Amino acid sequence: MQALEGTLAGFHDYITRTFAPEDEALAEARQNAQREGLPEINVSPSQGKFLQLLARLAGARRILEVGTLGGYSAIWLARALPEGGKMISLELDSHHADVARANIERAGLGEKIEIRVGPGADSLRKMHQSSEALFDVIFIDADKDGYPKYLELCLPLLREGGLLLGDNTLPDAVLDTQAQSGTKSYNAAVAARSDLSSIIVPALRARGVDGLTISIKQSAAK
Ligand code: SAH
Ligand code: DHB
Ligand code: MG
Repeated sequence: MQALEGTLAGFHDYITRTFAPEDEALAEARQNAQREGLPEINVSPSQGKFLQLLARLAGARRILEVGTLGGYSAIWLARALPEGGKMISLELDSHHADVARANIERAGLGEKIEIRVGPGADSLRKMHQSSEALFDVIFIDADKDGYPKYLELCLPLLREGGLLLGDNTLPDAVLDTQAQSGTKSYNAAVAARSDLSSIIVPALRARGVDGLTISIKQSAAK
């Protein structure tokens, strides 16, 4: 087991070094968040790069994120946006939002990314009420218990053909000790919907395996 873990960590290092080196803005965003006492639960560089590629593949002009933290994943994602593109990121904690705004400003993305502070579900309901324009990509990465609720609230905000992404949907969802986990319920709910076609893509991180649930919104069962 030790040897296997070592090998997976080696693969992870190789992928990161080769395809997802951080530039100064990303490295500083991570260091600044750490200095400000934020938990180190941002996506890894390779996960950030993967999110960015998915957003580009989707031709994203509008991206929504639930769970900003220090803005690290937002920077990766917003770099997929064309001129005039926009990202909205929802965050409960105003200190996290302040740190994220500074990081995003330093990355030169202040015009593209807007952070809205408050419980994500409240912000999503306000978006319904104000007839917010639809999004091409939605990335759910806030409190895991909230995932099933975010699924219901996010789907009406996603355009047909758009991508719904759920972070950290492995390994907790399959561990016995996490039988009631929000990510497990999320995966089951997503899999049962005929207006979504989905898969989990396992991802390596420095320690062990993570998972991203990728869903495309479709008009009817395919
Ligand atoms: N996407 C970030 C990591 C997000 S960590 C990145 O990869 O860089 C999860 C974030 O969700 C934390 O900042 C936490 O404060 C926030 N959060 C927790 N509960 C929330 C809620 N109810 N609504 C919105 N955000 C919430
Ligand atoms: C952890 C990682 C995440 O991406 C997240 O959103 C929450 C927690 C973690 O490693 O604990
Ligand atoms: Mg996450």
